[in-house]
This record gives sequence, C-alpha cells and structure tokens, in this order.
Amino acid sequence: MNTILVGAQWGDEGKGKIIDILSENADFIVRYQGGNNAGHTVCVNNKEFILHLIPSGILHKGKKCIIGNGVVVDPEALIKEINHLKKYGVDADKNLLISDRVHIIFPYHRLLDALREEKKKNGKIGTTKRGIGPCYADKVNRCGIRMSDLLNKDLFCKKLKENIKEKNEILRKIYKHKGFSYKELCERYLGYADIIRNNVTDTALVLSEAVKRGKDILFEGAQGTLLDIDHGTYPFVTSSNAIAGGACAGAGVGPINIDKIIGVVKAYTTRVGEGPFPTEFKKTLMDNIQKKGKEFGATTGRPRRCGWFDNVVARHSAVINGLTEIALTKLDVLDDLKEIKICTSYKYKGKPVGTFPADIEILSGCKPVYESMPGWQSDTTDCKEYADLPANAKRYLERLEELMGVKIAMISVGSKRRETIAR
Ligand code: GDP
Ligand code: IMO
Ligand code: MG
Repeated sequence: MNTILVGAQWGDEGKGKIIDILSENADFIVRYQGGNNAGHTVCVNNKEFILHLIPSGILHKGKKCIIGNGVVVDPEALIKEINHLKKYGVDADKNLLISDRVHIIFPYHRLLDALREEKKKNGKIGTTKRGIGPCYADKVNRCGIRMSDLLNKDLFCKKLKENIKEKNEILRKIYKHKGFSYKELCERYLGYADIIRNNVTDTALVLSEAVKRGKDILFEGAQGTLLDIDHGTYPFVTSSNAIAGGACAGAGVGPINIDKIIGVVKAYTTRVGEGPFPTEFKKTLMDNIQKKGKEFGATTGRPRRCGWFDNVVARHSAVINGLTEIALTKLDVLDDLKEIKICTSYKYKGKPVGTFPADIEILSGCKPVYESMPGWQSDTTDCKEYADLPANAKRYLERLEELMGVKIAMISVGSKRRETIAR
C-alpha cells in the first residue's frame, strides 16, 4: 500500500500526529516538497517532538526516512534537527536518506525572504522567513545549487561564486544591505557537506526498488492544499506543490504506484500568515479556540488565525487531491461549544458562489453561508471507539462527511497517539 497524506486546509491540520500513527505500518516515509517552513508535531510518551525537515516517521525505530528531490534543504537546520533528535536517542542520521537533487537554501535566500516581506508593507505574505520562496525561485530560474553540486567541491565553488555575485548586487542596490562573503559561505557549506555526505543518494532509485519489492511507502505532505502554489490562495501561498500530485514529482515515483490519498482536516479551520480566510472568527471565539486548541505555530510561534469549518475549502481539497479518505483532527477542541457552524457556500456581492474562486479579490469579498448544529458539550478525549462519541459529535462528523463527499476513516481527539479513533 503506497499512501500520500496531505493537509487539506491551510497547514497545521495535525499531519505529524497522523503520519506518526501510519508510520507503524510503513517501510519508508518520504517528504516530497517544502522545507523547514513545516512544523509537524508528534507526541510520544508525553514528550513533544517538532519535525521541520525530517519525516515524522523517524521516531519509529528502523523506518527508512527520505527527503525527496522536491524538498528545499537548509543544511544548517537539518544538522541541528538531526543533533536534537540524537539527544533523545533517535537515530536520525542512520535512517535518513537525502536526495542528491534537493535544492539548497543559503543565508541569502533567508535574507531576501525577510527583506522582500519588509519592503512590501501592504500585501505581505507573512512567510516563515526560512528562505523557501527565494530558493524555489532559483530552482525554477535554473540558477539554484543542488545537493549533488554541494558534494562536488569545484562545481560548488563556481556556482556559489556566481550566485553570490548576483545576490550581492541585488542586496546592495535594492536593499542597501552589505551582502555576503563568498569565502566564509563556501567554507561553511563545504563543512556541512562533509557531515551529510553519507546520507545523500539517488532516492528515486531507492524508492523504485522499494516499489518493486512491494514495500509500503508513506508520503508526508507539508503545508496544505490552500497553500499550494497552483491551487491555493495565490499569492498567499507557499512556493511548492503541497497537493497529492506533488508527491510523484517531488519523490520521483510514478502515479500508477499510489493506492490511497488521505486528507488531514481539522474539525475547524486555521491559517498562519496573511491572506483571505472567509470563516475567520471574531475576537471571543478566536481567543477561546486559540487557547483550547493551542493554536500557536510550531515553526514561528505566531498565533494561528482560527475559524469555522469551511466546506468550500474542504470540497476544493477533496477534488484537487482526489482524496480517498479523511483523517479528522482536533474534534476535542470543539467539546465545550454550544453551537457549531459549518460554512457550506459563499456569497459574493449577494450572489451565491459554489466553488472556490481563483480571483483573490473575489475570495476576499466572499461572505460565508453557514448551517448551524448543536454542540455536544462533553469531553471526547477519552472516547476510544466511534460508538463512544456523543450523538451530536457523530452528527457533526457525518454531516461533514456528507458535505465533503469523502469518508472520515480516522478521528483524532487529542494530541497523543492513543487519542485516536479508527473507523
Ligand atoms: P501539522 O503541521 O499538520 O503536522 O500540525 P502541527 O503539528 O503544526 O499542529 C497541530 C497541533 O495540534 C500540534 O500541537 C498537535 O500536537 C496537536 N494535535 C494534533 N491532533 C490533535 C487533536 O486531535 N486534538 C488536539 N487537542 N490536539 C491535536
Ligand atoms: P505545516 O507543514 C501552516 C505559510 C506561512 C505563510 C505562507 C508562505 O506545518 O503544515 P513560506 O515560508 O512557506 O514562504 O510561507 O505559508 N506556511 C505554513 N502555514 N503550516 C505550514 O506548514 C506552513 N508552511 C508555510 O505562514 O503564510
Ligand atoms: Mg505545522
């Protein structure tokens, strides 16, 4: 069984927790896009791990974890993450393979990311400032530096010199910044190369062998469908294809080998950063859900904006990803509410809009149309089986299922492994 798991909203749906559970039955866990802008939380024995670059399966002994070609890698962040995991007895480097085709993030990417945001004032994206956008821009512009270049000293020095020359000109002329020293960066990155060299390989070949031998592969999406560069709320998106389709390109595996596509959705909606968010709460509910759901970013610590479940978003995700099932998380966060709303469609200038608009100005002007359901006002975190859930919680789930047109196969009622209901 080869499974792709994707975020079906604006990221932070609880993918880390679900990946951790599914990893038990997988042989390989593969990241295929994004970089250390991701923050995937896994709670094991009351210890919380936040994975940024390394697949969340790494916490299971002996599972092979792969950083696929579609990922952008900041070697400094990667080495830090490996060392952090080692401190807790996780063999992060032993079980990790990194594609020789990943693009490398440099300090000039991080700086340009931050400076561009600062300069924008209105219309800023609210990026994580990890250099993700500028690194992918270099990739598409065909001037990026890949892992295979980093491991080839002479080629690396030549490419870095050319890049720094151009980046320093931009930094000096547009941003009045002094720029970077080639010598210092070159030495530093060659040092990183020596640390990770043994983990680098052609990971697409490793995966094609795994497919041939009938191994189980789990693809770990980062970000979410509405942050996808093509299908999200452009330009308030990340710079990669976070949707299921991105897994094949970002790992080098043919679409024919995919058996299952799981979408992770929260029982409500959240988003970090700027951009339209039709069902966003007003202050009182915002404070309440932010607190109860601990909705503060796993990467930047920023408060996440929260809102009602938006089925226009979820339906869009179901279609774009071809979801075969849903893992629904954070149902427990709604436990106290008396009334729960579901957005079933939008209205723009008083007229119904049934589908997810591409035009960002239209989307910003869309007003949600809600249907209301009574809450269950009881604790769900101890429910072990679907039958244990309060009747109104089951009604809510079944209504969501009906609206999305996809079966909810897993329900999460807390951050721990055992707080999960299989259905
Ligand atoms: P990801 O980026 O999709 O992996 O999600 P994050 O890790 O950024 O954010 C999800 C947060 O919700 C983490 O703090 C998880 O520990 C937590 N979490 C996941 N599932 C549940 C759940 O069912 N209930 C509650 N209360 N917390 C959850
Ligand atoms: P996980 O994998 C939520 C958001 C940023 C910003 C936009 C662009 O944990 O779900 P970027 O740094 O990627 O250029 O920022 O995307 N963003 C995320 N939001 N979860 C994430 O990852 C995110 N990764 C990026 O907040 O709005
Ligand atoms: Mg996250």
